[in-house]
Amino acid sequence: MFSSGDVSKAGDLFAEDYVDHQRPDGWDLAGPAEFVTIVRHARAGMRNLSVEVNDCLVDERRVAARLTWRYQDEDGSATVRETLEMLRVANGRVAEHWGGESAAPRRESGQVGLPPVHRLSRVEIRPITEDDRDFVVEMARQACVIEDRPLPPADAPEVVEILPTADDEAILATASDGSRVGAAWWHFHDPVLLRSDDGSAVPEMIIAVESDLRGRGIGTALINALAERGASSFPALSLNVHLRNPAARLYTRAGFRVAGRGRGWFGVAMERRLTDQVR
Ligand SMILES: CC(C)(COP(=O)(O)OP(=O)(O)OC[C@H]1O[C@@H](n2cnc3c(N)ncnc32)[C@H](O)[C@@H]1OP(=O)(O)O)[C@@H](O)C(=O)NCCC(=O)NCCS
Repeated sequence: MFSSGDVSKAGDLFAEDYVDHQRPDGWDLAGPAEFVTIVRHARAGMRNLSVEVNDCLVDERRVAARLTWRYQDEDGSATVRETLEMLRVANGRVAEHWGGESAAPRRESGQVGLPPVHRLSRVEIRPITEDDRDFVVEMARQACVIEDRPLPPADAPEVVEILPTADDEAILATASDGSRVGAAWWHFHDPVLLRSDDGSAVPEMIIAVESDLRGRGIGTALINALAERGASSFPALSLNVHLRNPAARLYTRAGFRVAGRGRGWFGVAMERRLTDQVR
C-alpha cells in the first residue's frame, strides 16, 4: 500500500480499533482511517516511494518484518531507510503496530537524474498571519472555481464573501522551505449553510491547495488540523461542494457526510461531526 498508494483494502486488513504506536502526539485518528492517513502522509513526504520486505516472520498473532524504503529526497537524491516493524493480529485483522528505524537514512550512491521535488518534503501547519493575506485570497479564488471555468478575480463577490474574518480560524500548510502550499479556514456565511440542533450556525470550511501539489495528502492534513482546532468550540464543521467536484471523495474519506442541499443547482452541504472519530 505504501508503494502503490492503493489503500482500498485497508478496511479489510485493519481492525476498527487499530492503534499505531508510532502515531504523532495529539493524533485523533484510529482504525483503518489512521493507516490510510499514514500512507498518504508517507507518500506526500517521500516521492517515488517503494517499500521492499526483506525478512518476514509470521505466527498466529504476530508479524515481524524488516523493510527497506526507497524514495526520492527533496533535493532529488535517492534515499534508503531500513525499519523493523511488528504487528499484532487479532481476528484476522491488524490490531496494533510498533516500528522504528534499524539504520539511519542514507543516500544511495550512483543514483542521479531524478528532478528535485518541487518545494515539498514535509508539510507544516500554522495559523495564518496578516502577511499571508494575498495567498489566502488566491486560495479563495481556487476554492470558488467550478470545473474548468476561469478563476474569478480577487475582488469578485463570491471570493470576498468566503474570506476568513479575524474571528475565524484559518490555517496554512507550508513546505519545508517555508513556502505556502495550501490553506483552510472556517467562516460563517450568510445565509448559513447548516445549523446544529440548538439552532446555532455550523462553521463552514473553505480549502484549497496549490494546483501542482494536489493529491499528496496536503488537503487531508489541513482538514484534520482544522477539525482538531474546531472540536473544542463547535459540534461540527460543514462545507459546500459542487456535485461534480472530485474533492467530494476526499471529504467523504475525511469523515464528512451529506447533510442536505447546498448552494446553487449543484451544491451539496456536507458535515463532519467533530466529536466522532473518522471512519
Ligand atoms: C480539494 C483540495 C483542497 C484537496 O487537496 P489535496 O492536497 O489535493 O488533497 P489530498 O491529497 O489530501 O487528497 C486527494 C483528494 O483530493 C481530491 N482532489 C485531487 N485533485 C483534485 C483537484 N484537482 N480538484 C479537486 N479535488 C481534487 C480528490 O478527492 C483526491 O482524492 P482521490 O485521490 O480519491 O481522487 C485540492 O484538490 C484543491 O485545492 N482543489 C481545488 C479547490 C477546491 O476544489 N476546493 C474545494 C472547494 S469545495
